[in-house]
Amino acid sequence: MPTRKNFLRTSGLSILPAFIPFSESLASAKEINDTPPDQKFIKFYGDGIVHEPGDYLEILKQAHAEEPIQRDRYGSGGIVEKLEKKFCEITGKEKAILMPTGTMANQFAMNILSRENTKVIVHDQSHSYRDEADAAQSVFTKRLVPLGAGKPYFSFDELRSAIEGLPNEEVFRSPVGAVAIENPVRRADGRIVPIEEIKLISDYCRKNNIGLHLDGARIYMASAWSGVSIKEYASYFDTVYISLYKYLGASAGAVLCGDAATISKMPHQMKVHGGVMAGNFTNAAMAHHTLKTFDEKLKLCVKAWNELYPKLNRLTGIKISALNNGSNVYRMEVSREVNSKSMLDKLREFNIRMYPPDQNNVFMISINETILNQPAEDVVKAFTRSIA
Ligand SMILES: Cc1ncc(COP(=O)(O)O)c(C=O)c1O
Repeated sequence: MPTRKNFLRTSGLSILPAFIPFSESLASAKEINDTPPDQKFIKFYGDGIVHEPGDYLEILKQAHAEEPIQRDRYGSGGIVEKLEKKFCEITGKEKAILMPTGTMANQFAMNILSRENTKVIVHDQSHSYRDEADAAQSVFTKRLVPLGAGKPYFSFDELRSAIEGLPNEEVFRSPVGAVAIENPVRRADGRIVPIEEIKLISDYCRKNNIGLHLDGARIYMASAWSGVSIKEYASYFDTVYISLYKYLGASAGAVLCGDAATISKMPHQMKVHGGVMAGNFTNAAMAHHTLKTFDEKLKLCVKAWNELYPKLNRLTGIKISALNNGSNVYRMEVSREVNSKSMLDKLREFNIRMYPPDQNNVFMISINETILNQPAEDVVKAFTRSIA
């Protein structure tokens, strides 16, 4: 059975340890489920909170009491419309549309932006290229051209030379219609594509009438760590998709934003692909509710981490370092003398969860709003006792 892990092994990417994805392990579901609901824990994995069903319903009940949730009809009106308007404000785009998945948002954006052209340039490590079951090729008859193999992103120079070199590589002309950029890059441990590269790529694509799509599933993480606003990121792209479930609390969903002409084509695309759902208000209401306080929470989260990180680094046996162009993912190297299993077990007693390390006792940890659940001193104490 091919899994993400053995796909990586067979595709040769396993030689690049920093590129091994570690976010969506099934282990996380168990980790979460065996925590008593009254105990708030810190999880150093994932980008946000995954609500248990009971908590989900409770939060929606509160949200409904604060501001009655209006239902939508096939994605029109009610809380869905409110959420779409909110995303227009956040991204500065003219129009937004709720979709059932980010995969659909990426595929439709690449399909519409590339028009009649068959080629779409993507990053070799991107979700669009590796995790969407070849939909572009098999459903939309687009040829995805991957760039930046073995690197966290492709540069403007690489993009330009790939596009301008095409006439020498292929006899029959079939131009590039769109470029898609993922930011931050999940398979590169959340590394951020530098804004200077994005600006150059955007300028080039606009001048050459090439559509530019942002897979911004986790753009909030890039923005919180880079200081570049979501609106600024979005301004360089024709379309941007943001996930509703990575950190906005919904159980699924995506919003795609862009100009009115592009987004107006999406309802038909959704219908013919069976993606128009009768009622969408539960996911929309949860994301809308989370967004009310999310900016503030993320700021507190970054601040709390900036206080905690040097304190943990003062402990003997722990060395945490930021990644180059990193976002909320850090490398935590623990002395080889420390038994990682007993360290993890001990940390669990303090309500702190981490994924297991690699063979060198290096943990990749993700910072998310759960670090607000315990004061820094308690976390330092927990680590001190756990590595003793
Ligand atoms: C970067 C990125 N893009 C797109 C997606 C697809 O999202 P969905 O699960 O909503 O299809 C994911 C999901 O893991 C992702 O990590």
